[in-house]
Amino acid sequence: LASIEVDLSPIQEGQAITAVWRGKPVFIRHRTPADIEQSRAVEVSSLRDPQADEDRVIKDQWLVMIGICTHLGCVPKGQKPGDPKGDYNGWFCVCHGSHYDTAGRIRKGPAPLNLPVPPYDFLDETSIRIG
Ligand code: FES
Repeated sequence: LASIEVDLSPIQEGQAITAVWRGKPVFIRHRTPADIEQSRAVEVSSLRDPQADEDRVIKDQWLVMIGICTHLGCVPKGQKPGDPKGDYNGWFCVCHGSHYDTAGRIRKGPAPLNLPVPPYDFLDETSIRIG
């Protein structure tokens, strides 16, 4: 499908789901205040792919991004309870050890870029359209 609608209301704070859009996994995480704070505490200019947390979200608590590692295309872990989340409490790509933070930005390992944010918009308080 060119675009999909996702109901966010069942996703509790701290939980994540994976949607599929154009055959790609889309990670949606309901971030906690601690996740947001951790991400915003970082000096943006120190990042490999410098991008402010605010520029990666529409609503602070909802992080939406394509779940494909920017190194060689594996799907990073960190979506399911008990998954490794890496050194920055975000996502960890087990293929070659890339660590992404709570905004999906690359922090350590071989991946060159942050996990990409797809085009999306809010339809109401708790639903989005991706694409
Ligand atoms: Fe993710 Fe290589 S594909 S670290």
